[in-house]
Amino acid sequence: MRILIAEDETIPRNVLRKTLESWGHTVIEAANGREAYDLYAGVQTPVDMLVTDWMMPEMDGLELARRVRRASNETLYTYIILLTAKSDIDDMVRGFREGEVDDYVVKPFDASELEVRLQVGERLLSLERRQREINRSLQESLDELHRTQQKLVQSEKMASLGGLVAGVAHEINTPVGLGLTAASFLGRKVHDLRGMLQEEALTRSKLEAFLDNVDEASQSILTNLGRAGELIQGFKKVAVDQTTGEKRAFGVAEYISEVLLSLRHEYRRGGHEVVVDCPDDLTIESYPGAFVQVLTNLVMNSLMHGFEDRENGQITIAAREDGDDVVVEYTDNGAGMDAKTLDNMYEPFFTTKRARGGTGLGMQIVFNLVTQKLGGEIRCESSPGEGTRFFITVPKLVGK
Ligand SMILES: Nc1ncnc2c1ncn2[C@@H]1O[C@H](COP(=O)(O)OP(=O)(O)OP(=O)(O)O)[C@@H](O)[C@H]1O
Ligand SMILES: [Mg+2]
Repeated sequence: MRILIAEDETIPRNVLRKTLESWGHTVIEAANGREAYDLYAGVQTPVDMLVTDWMMPEMDGLELARRVRRASNETLYTYIILLTAKSDIDDMVRGFREGEVDDYVVKPFDASELEVRLQVGERLLSLERRQREINRSLQESLDELHRTQQKLVQSEKMASLGGLVAGVAHEINTPVGLGLTAASFLGRKVHDLRGMLQEEALTRSKLEAFLDNVDEASQSILTNLGRAGELIQGFKKVAVDQTTGEKRAFGVAEYISEVLLSLRHEYRRGGHEVVVDCPDDLTIESYPGAFVQVLTNLVMNSLMHGFEDRENGQITIAAREDGDDVVVEYTDNGAGMDAKTLDNMYEPFFTTKRARGGTGLGMQIVFNLVTQKLGGEIRCESSPGEGTRFFITVPKLVGK
């Protein structure tokens, strides 16, 4: 070991140094507490053990021990033995209790006693250091785990936003397409009209027919552009809520339909339908972004797992007030789950569709959002062939 000794009297210090060296240790020596601390803080190779006298000028042994202990908490553990006179035992015990010293030897002592204490100390020191190393690597793994979890949550958020964009783009495509058709129809009719004018073939009835066409086409353009505008408006709201994650008051029914709008092409494609049963005036003050994510994940799961290989699936979303809470009952009439899946559904990375790109994070995120962010509870009933039903209860006023 590398041992630092602090002792103000020359003869005992020399004896101590020679003894320790004869046992094969490397010794650094100091004549008082301050000198010892400067040495301790200045050396490159860490000191394994400090053997210090108590009563010394400049800085006493207990103060030295306190400082070394504080410094060694940030680096490698240093084992501290205090040399003390019998009369100082009571004070000694206090220092001991405060964890500043590890052991003490009462003066005068003989070499064999010191040797035993040193050996015990060496063993404890290596245990303590090993312990710290384990703690440090545990802490590192834990930090790494937290970072990964945050990244996953973030990427899940982004992924659901991506899904939202795709859904809305798809929905907007229809009214924009219809508007385009109407506009080009209008263009053709104007061209025809010009031709008739040039050939002086324009009759009153032809003009009336033209005006009817213009009416119809402009009506169609107006309606479809209006629809596209609404879609974008709704999407902007959902996207902002998703990204900022702020709390605000919102209508439950209105929000459910915004979410369904962005998912519509997903469920219509498979011939499925979604029925919403929710009073229009039901509002809550909560996190709409989390709300969207929960619903999106539930619907995607019904489509991916419940309605796999099926047509005409039905999803029912019923929401009602219950005292200070809102209860959402989400039901699908799909394949349902066996007991093992039901038990593990919320576990991170549990999926029955690994080969088909399932990550098994959807329900874990749903669980965390409902129980933490939204401050509520979630329960599931399902069995094979009987469909799946979720009961979600969240407070109308979250965070109070
Ligand atoms: N509505 C449902 N009907 C049948 N099984 C379901 C339903 N919802 C969830 N499950 C089961 O629960 C498992 C876990 O769902 P979870 O959403 O966590 O993962 P995943 O959908 O497989 O993957 P992803 O991370 O892509 O969502 C699914 O693999 C599926 O077996
Ligand atoms: Mg899923």
